[in-house]
Amino acid sequence: MKKLKIFPKTFLYTFALMLFITALAFGLTYLFAIQRAADDAPIYMTISDGTTREISTALKQSAVTSIIANAFPLSLLCCVFVSLVFSILYSKAFTIPIKRISSVTERMARLEKSAVSDVRSRDEIGVLSENINELAKQKGVVADIAIRINPNVDAHTHHYITTGLEENKFGISQWQFQEVVDALKGLHNVRLISLHFHVGSQITDLNVFEALCLKVNEIQDWFKAQGFTFEHVDLGGGLGIDYVYPNENPIANFADYFAIVNKNLKVEKGQKVHFEIGRAIVGQCGNLITKVVYVKHGQKKSFAIVDAGMTDLIRPALYQAYHKIENITSTREDRAYDVVGPICESSDCFAKNVAMAEAKRGDLFAIRSAGAYSEIMASQYNLRKLPEHYYSDEL
Ligand SMILES: Cc1ncc(COP(=O)(O)O)c(C=O)c1O
Repeated sequence: MKKLKIFPKTFLYTFALMLFITALAFGLTYLFAIQRAADDAPIYMTISDGTTREISTALKQSAVTSIIANAFPLSLLCCVFVSLVFSILYSKAFTIPIKRISSVTERMARLEKSAVSDVRSRDEIGVLSENINELAKQKGVVADIAIRINPNVDAHTHHYITTGLEENKFGISQWQFQEVVDALKGLHNVRLISLHFHVGSQITDLNVFEALCLKVNEIQDWFKAQGFTFEHVDLGGGLGIDYVYPNENPIANFADYFAIVNKNLKVEKGQKVHFEIGRAIVGQCGNLITKVVYVKHGQKKSFAIVDAGMTDLIRPALYQAYHKIENITSTREDRAYDVVGPICESSDCFAKNVAMAEAKRGDLFAIRSAGAYSEIMASQYNLRKLPEHYYSDEL
């Protein structure tokens, strides 16, 4: 396939170059021959009326023209031959790396062509067989793999951070398991050693984790019946934190979480259980400190406009997330504010109608529980600068 792509182009370029060189050679030969004719001893011819004419140049001209005319078809053939050989050698030299680089795209294209019966092989299973197995094969290794399962367990959290339902894009669903098993039978360069789950984030209803564990058991049993054993099982993350009372509950409910897993997850002998808890560990460890640019008093409400914006902490704008906000430089009476950023977007709002010590220009606000999914999700939208971070043991 690739050869054909390179071949005509290289051929055409080489042929054009050869043609140019041949024309140049003929042209120079011609000029040179004429020049030589002028230098040679003149040849005269007496014609019928008795006059003599110098014919050496005309003679040379006709001799050279006839040689060129005879040689031209042969030269053309030579050009074709040389271009052909060169383009074949060139394409051979460059086909292998090009093939490697484009193998994924090429195979994707092939899958595209293989129409309806192959629709599903374009998703994770397709990637598994077409890409991972193929890459491992090229390297001469067997790759240990985990597959992400969509267990269809509702995380009862915000729908933007729910990942384990059939309607979500993540993972392989139960109805695809047989297909995975069938695919794996033919893949000799991958070894399935782990199942991975992650049903969502900021999960505060711990019953979700019980439901997840029971589902994991059921799924493991199914795979076991097909002859698979798993060295690892990964439950993902998801344990939520208290955004409303960060001072009262700075530590997530790890005790109950692990007790639930311990009670409900069936762990095989020698099997390692992995957790990917993120927010619960770092969420309460960071605050976004921002300065009040000015306070604007409307007829119905007051706005505290701060210098941080949705580019520094996008959670409220992205999924209406709540963060507690405190005025850390004021002990004045409480007043209600909409705390908003300076960006020209109505969604650039951290909180609506929150009570806090009366704010003045220059006051500092702490937007609490910003240790997870804030700086890491910061952007430079509207040419804004990225936030700076500082560490302290005292705060
Ligand atoms: C696959 C996966 N694992 C773990 C996490 C961490 O989740 P959390 O911070 O809710 O514990 C995420 C977060 O998006 C994730 O996508």
